[in-house]
Parts: sequence; C-alpha cells; structure tokens
Amino acid sequence: MRLVIRNKADTVADYVATYIKARITQFAPTAERPFVIGLPTGSSPIGVYKRLVQFCASGSLSFKHVVSFNMDEYVGLPRDHPESYHSFMWNHLFKHIDILPENVNILNGNAEDLEAECDKYEAKIKSYGGIELFLGGIGPDGHIAFNEPGSSLQSRTRVKTLAYETILANARFFGGDVTKVPMLALTVGVGTVMDAREVVVIITGANKAIALAKCIEEGVNHMWTVSAIQTHSRSLVVCDDDATLELHVKTVRYFKSIEQVQDEMIGRENLGLYGQVAGQLKYSSVSSGN
Ligand code: GLP
Repeated sequence: MRLVIRNKADTVADYVATYIKARITQFAPTAERPFVIGLPTGSSPIGVYKRLVQFCASGSLSFKHVVSFNMDEYVGLPRDHPESYHSFMWNHLFKHIDILPENVNILNGNAEDLEAECDKYEAKIKSYGGIELFLGGIGPDGHIAFNEPGSSLQSRTRVKTLAYETILANARFFGGDVTKVPMLALTVGVGTVMDAREVVVIITGANKAIALAKCIEEGVNHMWTVSAIQTHSRSLVVCDDDATLELHVKTVRYFKSIEQVQDEMIGRENLGLYGQVAGQLKYSSVSSGN
C-alpha cells in the first residue's frame, strides 16, 4: 500500500485527478477495450471531479472509452432527487465530460427486486472483465462505499442498512434533518472493491483522522472496512495533513521519506506510475551508488 500525504484537500484532489488521467492515458482505452472505473460520491471526490472536467474541457483527457460503475445509491430516493447519487454524479461529473450515457452504471435504488438489481450489477462488472481502478472515499467510521462496520470483507453488492453515524453525517445533505436521510442503500461490497485491479482512496479532514489510523496502522478488521486495502496488491491512499492527526509521527515520516527518496535520490523521471523503478539501467546506477 502506498500513502501519499499532501498539505490540503486541494492538493490531494490535484494528485488524484492527475493520477487518474495518467492511468487512463497509459491504458489507451478503445471501444473494444474500455477503461473500467469505479467511482464514489461524497464531498471527498468533488475536487477530483472538477479537475477531470477541466482536463476534458482542455482536450487532454477523454472518457469516450471509459465505463463507470458507481459504488452505491440510496434506496427509495427518486432518481431525480437532488441528493440521489444519480443526480450527484451527473451534476458533478458526467454531464460535463464526454462519457457515453450507456457506459454509466449506477445502482437503481428503486428497482422492484433490489437483490436482483445487485446481482445484475455484479454480473455486469464481470462482463467487462472487472474494474481497473476503484476510486473511493471513506466515512468517519472507516466505511468504504456503504460497507458499514461489521460488513464482511468478502461482501458483494447488496442492500445495506446504514449506521446511525452515517445517517447523521449525511443529514447535512438533507437540510440537517436525519429523518429525511434514507436508512437503506444499495452498495458494492468490500469484496467487489477489492477485486478491482487497483484501489485508490481519498481521505481528507480531521474527522477522518481516526479512521485513517485504524485503516493503515492497525490490523485488517471488519469494524473499519477500508482496512481491507492492506491486503490489496495495488492500493494507494491519498490524504491531507489534517487526516494524519491520529497517525504516529513515525508513520507519517516513513511514508514521506519514501517520496523523498523517490524525488531526491531516484528521480521522478525514473519512476513508473505505481512508484516502480522504470529503467533497469538507472536502477542499477542508483543501487550501486553511482
Ligand atoms: C457516504 C458514501 C461513501 C463516502 C462517504 C464519505 O457514506 N456512501 O462512499 O465515502 O459518504 O463522504 P464524504 O466524502 O462527504 O465525507
């Protein structure tokens, strides 16, 4: 797992958006081989979406061959409700970029048979050969998507009862009225997210500090479901300084020192997207101290 620390939410958004752009560009998607991305809602990804929209507007990025799968959706909220995740995604991202509407996948929280809807979603992800990159945010209780504490780390897309803490946290979007927040949601499972070939998680703000510490400094634990990323072979957490408040100083220094070695000793130009050393020759010269 890589941890990248930036000073504030804005620079976190810059990092993540630039990273996603580089991943899509390097993948060079086509209609036959689209880039399949998993996407979250919430305030954490808004800055990333703004930048992706700017990249598309300037012509440096295209979503024409990108297929998206959203993480979750409330149950029973009309699709065109301003707080539905459908509305969120179209307002913040999809209507501003060149993604094909038929390539957008969002769970239908008003489906007659919710279980069948979830099974269909899993099958559709499979039909694309899985998700290349799953972007996520987390709740203050360490949940990813709507996988509340105690969710199985093998869980798949399903109907989920929301934790009271999540209902409280999301009441801000419903005029502060907890009674207006739906109590059920459809969500991809922890297992669905972990099946992606890469998982990238944005964690910003002091209210996520305990969750970040639980997620990366303690063991894999279903009470902090995002901690499952410790077992993923390609995972990246990008956080701001505020979110590191509960980490050990040693942890922060450790991850910062890795970036320092990459910048000052190896050189960014010698690194691949995942932080791997790209050129064998240059690697030899570094390791032999030349
Ligand atoms: C909701 C969503 C999560 C999101 C979380 C955090 O619970 N289901 O996917 O990560 O909110 O939201 P925010 O980024 O606004 O803190």
